[in-house]
Formats: sequence, structure tokens, C-alpha cells
Amino acid sequence: MKPIISIQNLSKIYEGGFTALDDVNLEVGEGEIIALLGPNGAGKTTLISTICGIINASSGQVRVNGFDIVKDFRQTRSIIGLVPQELTTDAFESVWDTVSFSRGLFGKSKSPKLIEKILKDLSLWDKKDSKLMTLSGGMKRRVMIAKALSHEPRVLFLDEPSAGVDVELRKDMWRVVEELRQTGVTIILTTHYIEEAEAIADRIAVINRGKIVLVEDKAELMQKLGKKTLTVQISKELKSIPKALSKYNLELSDDKMSLTYAYDASGKRTGITSLLSDLSTAKILVRDIETKQSSLEDIFVGLVSEGAGS
Ligand SMILES: Nc1ncnc2c1ncn2[C@@H]1O[C@H](COP(=O)(O)OP(=O)(O)OP(=O)(O)O)[C@@H](O)[C@H]1O
Ligand SMILES: [Mg+2]
Repeated sequence: MKPIISIQNLSKIYEGGFTALDDVNLEVGEGEIIALLGPNGAGKTTLISTICGIINASSGQVRVNGFDIVKDFRQTRSIIGLVPQELTTDAFESVWDTVSFSRGLFGKSKSPKLIEKILKDLSLWDKKDSKLMTLSGGMKRRVMIAKALSHEPRVLFLDEPSAGVDVELRKDMWRVVEELRQTGVTIILTTHYIEEAEAIADRIAVINRGKIVLVEDKAELMQKLGKKTLTVQISKELKSIPKALSKYNLELSDDKMSLTYAYDASGKRTGITSLLSDLSTAKILVRDIETKQSSLEDIFVGLVSEGAGS
């Protein structure tokens, strides 16, 4: 995949000496959707703001579509759409005017059809003549997304697009993201909702204390780090695990009424069939069975807490 964003040895030290980005290296392929996860203060907004040319890096280089973000600012900014974390909207303008004006700022010719489509996609059509000051927070966020899309960016940054929005907007947004993916738009998204990353990202990057601690294909990540467990409820209390079952490394619950078996779901043999047959041979009656897969959230919490200790 051709990289559309290429970040090399990027560091940001804020005035006062705080290192918010520490030697970040990352390539984002054209048409990819990457979710940037990290705890509060990890450096997500700093990274996005640097790529968009809003703040200056202390060292390192970023290229967007082959252009340097500092030397060729106009070229890079013109293909970037940004939905910032903080809402900033001009209160007295109407929704229609503010979104249309935003397109004009990028030197694009008027396209009422496109603006109409964007407003409809984001369920803003019936608010098109409303002044921004009269909108709720979630509506304002929709307007921010509409503004970012107005100039048909090839790269879209969504910094916490789901913060403070209802389920409806989140779904609208996911749908819009899916549509943009199909037209080849590259999307970088930060979120605190792990299920959002799980739902829409192709790749996951985790940033902690200004360092990228992981970048991995979502499916591979879940397979590699994701463990699966099978819990068997038994119908009679079991004092101890019979020797015949020792090879399964089962765990007996405190109430002695269930056994848990951890297995590799990606392996050819999970061992479940033979476990169930051996349970039956040992005359252990099974009442119920439940399997559980560790979620991206478990993986994320594990990674970030590891990093915090070092
Ligand atoms: N203008 C600034 N001057 C000094 N320090 C700053 C400035 N902006 C951000 N920081 C610090 O840099 C670190 C990274 O901030 P940043 O906003 O990038 O984090 P974030 O990952 O986006 O967090 P959140 O999840 O809360 O949005 C934080 O410790 C923050 O306090
Ligand atoms: Mg932020």
C-alpha cells in the first residue's frame, strides 16, 4: 500500500519542556482507516495537530501525499479535513453558510449538491438554516464533521468524534466513514470508545506518553493477543481436578462449580472436543458452556498499563 502519510522521527517538546511526542514513526496507507488509541494526555491531539500544520514539531518530518507539511503547507492542508476535538464554530452563521464557506476557504468552486448530500448524510438537513448558537453540542459536532468534509479531503482526521454524541450520531458517523472508505479516503481517528475502533478501523495504533507503543492490523492484533476461554458449568461440586484432566490446565472456580479452559482460538486444534469427551469419561456432568474472547479493550488496557510501569 502506498503511504499517504509518512511520519519520521517526530518529536514535540512544548514550551516549558514537556515532551508530548517522542520520536514517532508511522506510515499510513492510502485508503486506510487507522484508529489512534491512548489514554488522556498521551499525545493524540498533538500528533494530529502537527500533521495538520496547526502546531510545529520540535524535530522530525511529516509528508502527506509526498509533500512536506512545513515547506509545502498549502498542498498538504488542501487535501486534509480535520474535525478537531474542541468545538469551534462561528455562532451567528447558519449551518448551510458555515459549511459552504468552509469549502470556499480551500479554493474549491461552489457545489450546493455536495453540501446538500453532506448535510443529509449527517442528519443536518432540517437544521440547514439554523444558527449555530441554537444547536446542541452533538449537532455542533455534526457541523464540524460537515465542515471537514466540505472540501472533499483525501485524508480525514477525526479527533474524538464520538465525545459527547448520542448513539444516532455515532451510527451516522460510522456510516459516513464507511462511505468515505469506499471512495478511498484515508481516515485517522482517535477515540476513547474501543468498540468504535473495533468496529471501523483497519489498523490500530496505540500511543502512550508520546510514544507509539503498537501499530498492528486489527484482525491480527485480536488474534495474536486475544485469548479465548471456555467455561464449563458442572452439575455437582468438584473437590479437585481429576488427574486425567491435568493436561488441560483447568482452573476450578472458588465455588467448585465451574471449570475454565484457556485455548488458542487461531490454532488448528482447540482441544475442546477431547476435553468434553474426557469430562464425560471422568463422569463430570456438564450443565452449561460459555466461551469468551478477550476484547480489544482488554488488550489496550494491558498495553497501556505495561507502559505506565516503565
Ligand atoms: N500547548 C501546550 N503546552 C504545554 N503542554 C501541552 C500543550 N498542549 C498539550 N500539552 C500536553 O501534552 C500532552 C499531550 O496532550 P494531547 O492533547 O496531545 O493529549 P491527547 O492524547 O489528545 O489527550 P486526550 O485523550 O485527553 O485528548 C499532555 O500532557 C498535555 O498536557
Ligand atoms: Mg486529545
